Amino acid sequence: MGWTPLCKKRLLSPGEAVPCRADGQEIIVLWPEGGRPRAFDARCPHEDVSLNKGIFNGQTLICAAHGWVFDAHSGEGLSPTGCGLDEFPIRVNGEMLEIELDED
Ligand code: FES
Repeated sequence: MGWTPLCKKRLLSPGEAVPCRADGQEIIVLWPEGGRPRAFDARCPHEDVSLNKGIFNGQTLICAAHGWVFDAHSGEGLSPTGCGLDEFPIRVNGEMLEIELDED
């Protein structure tokens, strides 16, 4: 599919979450403190609710629906464990952040 524009680079800052959409797919960009920006599928693996209304404290993202907790550095589930968010490659191209979505 190649690289797709995701959001303006200036919207990102450490400790912040940015809800985005690319090719009709909900994406959440998390920039954990002490880390780098990462783009994850914004559908919760529990019951497919949008994570774009979740609570981000700079390290973890909490789903607003039932409180599942995810590590923003990896997307791994912290509570419960054994689940995780799908991550997509991102890059900066000029003033834009771009994402590489799956082929399918
Ligand atoms: S849908 Fe996210 S915790 Fe239930």
